[in-house]
Amino acid sequence: MTPEFWLNRWQRGELGWHEEEINRHLAEHWSSLEVPNKAPVLVPLCGKSLDMLWLASLGHAVLGIEISRLAAEQFFAEHQLMPRVDQLGPFQRYQVDEISLLVGDFFDLQRAQLTGISAVYDRASLIALPPETRPRYARHLSRLLPDGVRSLLITLEYDQARMKGPPFSVTEPEVRALFEASFQIETLSVFDALAESPRFRARGLDSLDERVYRLQRQVSAA
Ligand SMILES: C[S@@+](CC[C@H](N)C(=O)[O-])C[C@H]1O[C@@H](n2cnc3c(N)ncnc32)[C@H](O)[C@@H]1O
Repeated sequence: MTPEFWLNRWQRGELGWHEEEINRHLAEHWSSLEVPNKAPVLVPLCGKSLDMLWLASLGHAVLGIEISRLAAEQFFAEHQLMPRVDQLGPFQRYQVDEISLLVGDFFDLQRAQLTGISAVYDRASLIALPPETRPRYARHLSRLLPDGVRSLLITLEYDQARMKGPPFSVTEPEVRALFEASFQIETLSVFDALAESPRFRARGLDSLDERVYRLQRQVSAA
C-alpha cells in the first residue's frame, strides 16, 4: 500500500474502517493497561478516529500520526475544533489542547518527536499494512518506544484466501513473530465480529475475529 493508495481513499471518502462510536475494545480494555491518567498516548495511523477524543477525555495527551492532511482537517472540523498548525521536522502538526496530529509518514517518525510517550493505541494500523511492510512497522515502533511502554493492539483474523486486504488478516502467531523480540504479549480477548460485518460477509468471509492484545515494551539489552 503506497501513500497514494491512502491519499486516494481519503480523496474519494472511502473510509470503511472509520467508526462513528468509540471502539468497544478500547473502552473495555484500556484500563487494564494501567496507563497513568495524564500519560501521553501515541496513535499511529490514526485516521480521524473518535477514539482520540475518548483518550483525551481521560486526561491523556494524544499524538496521532496520519499520512492524509484531509484526515486531520476533517477530524478537527467535525468536532468544531480550530487547530494551530505548524511544522515539526517533516510533519505538519495540527494541535488543539492535548491533541496533536502529525501529518506525514509514520516511517519518518523519530524518537525525539515522541518525548514522554507512555502508551500506544493501535487499532486498524497493523492490519492496514501488507505482509511485507508489517515487519518494518513493528521494527520502527520498537525502536521508537522507550522501555515499559504499553500498547493496546487490535487486529483482525479471517481466511485471507477469501478476501484481499486491506484490512489484512494478521494472525496471533504473526503478532508474536513481529513483536516478541521487544514486547511481552498477552491476548486480552477474541471477539467474533462476523455477525455485525455484513460488508465482509458479502465479500465471502465465513469467520472474522477481532483480537485484542496487550503489549509491553521490554527492558532493552544494554
Ligand atoms: C485503516 S485506517 C485506520 C485509521 C484509524 N486507526 C482508525 O481506527 O480509524 C489506516 C490509516 O492509516 C493511514 N496511513 C497509511 N499509511 C500511513 C503511513 N505510512 N503513515 C501515516 N499514516 C498512514 C491511512 O491514511 C489511514 O487513515
